[in-house]
Amino acid sequence: MSQRVAILGATGLVGRAALRLLEARAYPVGDLRLLAADGGGRSVGFGGRSWPIEPVSSRSFDGVDLALFTCANDVSLQWAPVARAAGARVVDNSSAFRFQPEVPLVVPEVNGELLESRPGLVANPNCSTIAIVLALAPLARAVGIERVEIATYQSVSGGGGEMLEELERGVRLGLEGDPPARGDGGPAFAFNVVPHIDRFEDNGYTREEMKVVWETRKILELPELPVHVTAVRVPVRVGHAAAVTAVLGRAVDPDEARAAWAAWPGLVVADDPARARYPMPLDAGGRDEVLVGRARRALHHPRGLAFFVASDNLRKGAATNAIQIAECLMNLAPAAERA
Ligand SMILES: NC(=O)c1ccc[n+]([C@@H]2O[C@H](COP(=O)([O-])OP(=O)(O)OC[C@H]3O[C@@H](n4cnc5c(N)ncnc54)[C@H](OP(=O)(O)O)[C@@H]3O)[C@@H](O)[C@H]2O)c1
Repeated sequence: MSQRVAILGATGLVGRAALRLLEARAYPVGDLRLLAADGGGRSVGFGGRSWPIEPVSSRSFDGVDLALFTCANDVSLQWAPVARAAGARVVDNSSAFRFQPEVPLVVPEVNGELLESRPGLVANPNCSTIAIVLALAPLARAVGIERVEIATYQSVSGGGGEMLEELERGVRLGLEGDPPARGDGGPAFAFNVVPHIDRFEDNGYTREEMKVVWETRKILELPELPVHVTAVRVPVRVGHAAAVTAVLGRAVDPDEARAAWAAWPGLVVADDPARARYPMPLDAGGRDEVLVGRARRALHHPRGLAFFVASDNLRKGAATNAIQIAECLMNLAPAAERA
């Protein structure tokens, strides 16, 4: 029943979140390999003992059942074939494989049935996309969707550990009266709002914006769905939010939407503006559910519904979703494989 698990990128923000969640969810970890660029004499506690961080190598995945990849695209591209050849099942958090048609891109509560074929490589979607499609899915299922407009408000931890340190450094500088400048010369994260995440594409949109477009279409299986996204970095440590306006197949009253969300796994309705209850990163942080609320009819279209979502980008936006995928795959495995 227990599995040999490897985490590639174990020292990063998502890797460390994955370790905590494997423990908290009592994932049956029999043996653990914690992999990074180099070991550096580092170790991490898990299950009551200390595990060394090892440099990833061509033998790292020998005998491994589950390989959680929590590293950059180029690292995933280099090591996924090695892990697959060694017989490990890979769940990848990078965007390296998300757009390959044969690779399932899975949010278990939305399209978990794609795991029934027990694919060897599964892509974990973008951290903003996961929250947005979770809130769109019940509406799409009930009445259909015609188009979606999105503005994201993404925390700095979404860019990894070094970026988070840049935010914290910038806040300190700013509070001391200095310009909160970023070490690499880019626009400061602290005391700022930056409409630029990932590189710019030829069409003027950022790669992050296009990821949300492509991934929303792929997960909802609506390849022509018009989706418009502006992705923005905000000076928040953890927790992404998004303002979403969807034109639906028919008019949906906010109460009907709240009832559909409340009945959907993985969503929690936070929608009582009179008591200042709405989705916010500080409330979504540290939990696995996506918060959805501020439901109201759109002013610009009779079938439009506007709402707001917030989620923990390191948990449901990354590690939780990846581990849920692994749990589904484990539960689908034939008994002989699980024994
Ligand atoms: N942060 C989020 O909210 C979030 C959400 C969804 C998806 N993702 C994706 O998840 C992945 C990890 O993100 P993160 O935020 O955890 O990044 P991070 O904090 O920067 O961590 C990166 C990890 O990759 C390791 N690494 C770097 N170069 C390596 C190499 N050449 N070989 C092996 N390991 C290497 C690092 O190890 P060292 O300590 O040795 O440098 C570290 O463990 C990225 O693809 C990201 O896009 C992130």
